[in-house]
Amino acid sequence: MFPETLPARLALLNACLNGSAAVCLVLGLAMIKRGRREAHKRFMLATIALSAAFLVSYLTRYALSGDTRYAGPQALAWVYYAILITHVPLAMATVPLVLITATHALKGRFEKHKRIARITYPIWLYVSVTGVLVYLMLYQLPQG
Ligand code: HEM
Repeated sequence: MFPETLPARLALLNACLNGSAAVCLVLGLAMIKRGRREAHKRFMLATIALSAAFLVSYLTRYALSGDTRYAGPQALAWVYYAILITHVPLAMATVPLVLITATHALKGRFEKHKRIARITYPIWLYVSVTGVLVYLMLYQLPQG
């Protein structure tokens, strides 16, 4: 069902932005593996735009309603906290990593770009996918 409150709607929007970022990341890698540099560039810049939109929307949601408590089944609480404890620090690390990775590429320093991208890429993908999982566990699980 479509959420009724603004914070809940923003949380849904955030999950959609994270999910779309994950899809663009996968397509971006597929493109560079096929040697399609221009398509890779477009998908990666699209992912940056989606993640930037997520950041703005997340901060707005946080300013409106603060922390969201896990209220799902207790049997799954440890899964939720295990995801959260890895998701949060990696999400913070993603910001400088993405900026450095993209800057190397845009300045044509592709050897450096490739080296750091191999760290940035899996972290970014993990953060995007776990962002969707965190949303599902917070908002879509039945109350525990
Ligand atoms: C932060 C965003 C980006 C990430 C995470 C990223 C990720 C990657 C990854 C993982 C590879 C290595 C693929 C492999 O091992 O085969 C790669 C290669 C490459 N990327 Fe990106 N990319 C990003 C942005 C860009 C942008 C904006 C451009 C264009 C200006 C670009 C151009 C390239 C090129 C040309 C290569 C091939 C380099 C070579 O083989 O020498 N990337 N990228």
